[in-house]
Amino acid sequence: MSKLASDQSLVQQAQQTLRDNDRGGYTLPTAGLYPFQWNWDASVTALGWASFEPARALEELDWLLRGQWGPQDFGGGNDGLIAHITFHTHADSYFPGPQEWGTQALRLRTSSISQPPLHATLLRWMLDLWKFEPNKPLAGVNTAQAAIKIIAIIEKLVRHHRWWYRCRDPQQTGLVVNIHPWESGMDNSPAWDAPLSRVPETTRAYTRKDLGHVDASMRPPKSYYDRVVYLMDLNKALDFDPVRIMQECPYRVNDIGIISILQRASMDLAALCERFGLADAARELGQHVQRTQAAVGALWSRRWQQYVSRDAISGDLLDVPTCAGLLGAYAGFEQASGETARKWLSETPFAFPSTRSVVASFEPQRYWRGPVWQHMNLLIADGLASAGHADLAAETRRRSMQLFEQSGFWEYYHPITGQGLGGPRFSWTAATYLFWNASGQR
Ligand code: DGY
Repeated sequence: MSKLASDQSLVQQAQQTLRDNDRGGYTLPTAGLYPFQWNWDASVTALGWASFEPARALEELDWLLRGQWGPQDFGGGNDGLIAHITFHTHADSYFPGPQEWGTQALRLRTSSISQPPLHATLLRWMLDLWKFEPNKPLAGVNTAQAAIKIIAIIEKLVRHHRWWYRCRDPQQTGLVVNIHPWESGMDNSPAWDAPLSRVPETTRAYTRKDLGHVDASMRPPKSYYDRVVYLMDLNKALDFDPVRIMQECPYRVNDIGIISILQRASMDLAALCERFGLADAARELGQHVQRTQAAVGALWSRRWQQYVSRDAISGDLLDVPTCAGLLGAYAGFEQASGETARKWLSETPFAFPSTRSVVASFEPQRYWRGPVWQHMNLLIADGLASAGHADLAAETRRRSMQLFEQSGFWEYYHPITGQGLGGPRFSWTAATYLFWNASGQR
């Protein structure tokens, strides 16, 4: 098959993946394993929709934001929270489902923690892809109405960023805190092993469902689940009160993934606010960006020559080189190192593994302990390109394309063999391909 024909067939397969996972307004990450709408998945998936059905892309964000917590929810302290799962419907194939989080009082049930807030960045990328102008035609879209929707989305994202800064950095240190490994989106990264070891294992009964969909060798072990369930239950026991959680939760981490993604998103959100007439919000976001820029040097690992996370309780660096620490350039941090990315690329045939392969905790097929995640490559490559490392960005993209071509659209991939792992026919992976294909050299 010619390259063009194979590209076209991959585009069709990727579009079909989104259509198959579409539940009318929101898209499942993959059927069975993840039967609801997930937070950061939704924005990455919207990027894929943006390449062939622009109206559907905005709808994906709109549906995600329907679950945003407001001033009326649980005392109002979490106004602006976008939860990591929104339960638009009932499904039995996932634990912990809607009954487990204690959020029955919400008009639309969600979990009670968040996920990496990349929405503003990806919304901006979408608008760039469309060359969006309120009076310029765009396939199947009334652009004047779309502009109204976009402003509504931006206003909700401003509330969300305020939630992060207010609830997760009440002392205004510049470095927000995450209070649950699932909030990082990089659930079982070895970077979380030390802070998680302080968390008690729950003694209550529960039944995992993930192992009915994916082999246990690709998923976290029971001792991990016992702890994340404990943290979920603690959040409920503390009435989701952000002040108490920041004082009492035994897991509190300055997560370099969230910090980098929030930083970039705040810069992009400020730009969107300027563009759409919300200058005060833009200024406010700019202050947060400056504070983070001044503080992030504390997360630089001299050993690994990249950023790492920090235990916010003990103050110890969690000195494990993960792919989240390669987001420095993407976030515009001063010490972002292309040379470190070059080293990573020399170590495994496929890139970027979620944990650098030279450390003992690297496990090439277990979820976030080693596998390659394509949406992370998209973010890292964008940062490398903007920091002047066009060669490294192109190499990242070339290896990602090899994975799509060789294995299709899996949740994650083995960084040494390229085998697809986790859930099959995965939305954000297909969406990453579609966006890359539509946007050229991002
Ligand atoms: C899971 O269940 O593995 C999810 O990643 C949690 O969000």
